[in-house]
Amino acid sequence: MKNVVILISGRGSNMEAIVRACADERWDARIAAVVSNRADAAGLAFARDRGIATEVVDHRAFASRDAFDDALADRIEGHGADVVALAGFMRILGAAFVRRFDGRLVNIHPSLLPAFPGLQTHRRALEAGCKASGASVHFVTADLDHGPIIGQAVVPVLADDTEATLAARVLVAEHRLYPRAIAWLLEGRLERRGSVVRHRNGASQLLLPGDPRP
Ligand code: GRF
Repeated sequence: MKNVVILISGRGSNMEAIVRACADERWDARIAAVVSNRADAAGLAFARDRGIATEVVDHRAFASRDAFDDALADRIEGHGADVVALAGFMRILGAAFVRRFDGRLVNIHPSLLPAFPGLQTHRRALEAGCKASGASVHFVTADLDHGPIIGQAVVPVLADDTEATLAARVLVAEHRLYPRAIAWLLEGRLERRGSVVRHRNGASQLLLPGDPRP
């Protein structure tokens, strides 16, 4: 059975979606731990209630970014992580950390990468007049929000959308996309060649609105 470690900094709704999918779809894996850099991350309570190990590694307790990264990496390894999922984890991880977890470290970003890496993605998509937006799950590389894309979910941008309505629509898509992408990784269904990731069975890595798949 494989171990998934999820890193959060706040609400943790993607973490919840992964935890639920793991149980409901009977993955041959367990959520070994939920780790946060903030003790007040709301998502920690959900994990604790489900009997999942939680850990707090407070970045403010470390003298340097590297020292934080090393401590965090050791905790994650302590849970035997096969997959490390960043789910609203608001710290930039250094190159050594990223190298250490290469191929095991994934992130979800609320835009159709490579558009709009970084923050305020929904505002930027609206300002750019995009007619579609969405979310991307990607392998993490040292280049922020720019790793090889595992899967993407598309949602329409409506004429009367605000940042909040667009964010809510994208979040629903995130909750479908992220568990699926992690399941593929756990099952060994992904093949990564340079910056391109393909599903070995040729399954679509794109979730469209109305897609009947769960
Ligand atoms: C999500 O929109 C995710 O794409 C981004 O941060 C947000 C986290 O939300 N990286 P939650 O904590 O999973 O609810």
